[in-house]
Amino acid sequence: MKKELNRIALDINDFFRIYLRRQSETELIKPITYSLLPGGKKIRSKILTDVGKIFGISYKTLIKIGAAVECIHAYSLIHDDLPCMDNDDIRRGKLSTHKKFGEATAVLAGNSLLTMAFEILCNKNVLLTEKIKIKLIKLISKSSGHTGIAGGQLLDLSFEKKKISINKIIAMQIKKTGKLFAFCCLAPAIISNKKQKTINQLKKIGYEIGLLFQIVDDLIDYRGNSKKAGKKTKKDKKIGKATLISLLGYQNTIKYTHKLKVSIFNKLKIFGKKSDSLKKTVLFILERNR
Ligand code: IPE
Ligand code: IPE
Ligand code: MG
Ligand code: MG
Ligand code: MG
Repeated sequence: MKKELNRIALDINDFFRIYLRRQSETELIKPITYSLLPGGKKIRSKILTDVGKIFGISYKTLIKIGAAVECIHAYSLIHDDLPCMDNDDIRRGKLSTHKKFGEATAVLAGNSLLTMAFEILCNKNVLLTEKIKIKLIKLISKSSGHTGIAGGQLLDLSFEKKKISINKIIAMQIKKTGKLFAFCCLAPAIISNKKQKTINQLKKIGYEIGLLFQIVDDLIDYRGNSKKAGKKTKKDKKIGKATLISLLGYQNTIKYTHKLKVSIFNKLKIFGKKSDSLKKTVLFILERNR
């Protein structure tokens, strides 16, 4: 698992190095590069390649789509760390982008990374038809804007210090984190023109994997190993974030993650052995501590 994740990280980072070298030398290239490289775990791209295996999509194509996803993810982290949001100084084991370059530069580097995702997907060396590319761009847009990350992030902030129901917390976490994971599950099916039934099934699987990922992120914050996590921990409680842990407690949240895993595995049965690699990634997400 670690080896596979490293390989994906290496390939995506190689893509970024070449891609960034070919961009014009603007004032924002430095903060953009700083926020992308060496970057994080690349777990969303791993999911893309796992689902890609189910449908037999070329690894090279998936790496480029993964790069677009990682741009959006990196943008969301820059903005998530801003003083007006979670106010975090450390990200991926180094100073967060606004601490290093200032707030205005961080906001604009974030905006640039968001649009760079679309630029990457439009590229002619992404060997897909224009029709498929438009479908992917539409879905990744919906996963990132007010119906996805941005909308979910606003809910996350507005829920602080309030007692929020479990269903509302889950819906918020699916928006801020689950939608981009769902994109990673859906993109390979869209590329291979799968029927609506398969698309609907994969969307649900993506939401559940993203939700699992976010709940485990909240558990990592609760447990408090900042060094391993590469970011400050034990912060959610201090800020009063509405999480399953704040509502149900630590042990019940762990139980909930195991139930989610079972639910995901049940949904993956339709893909048989082809989903083995995806199952391993789900287990990694469940057991991770960084
Ligand atoms: C952190 O995401 C933000 C959440 C959605 C919980 P990751 O844990 O994937 O961050 P990196 O990319 O590995 O740094
Ligand atoms: C962030 O969630 C989710 C995003 C969409 C960026 P968190 O605020 O819990 O992520 P960390 O803990 O700062 O990485
Ligand atoms: Mg946040
Ligand atoms: Mg945060
Ligand atoms: Mg967190």
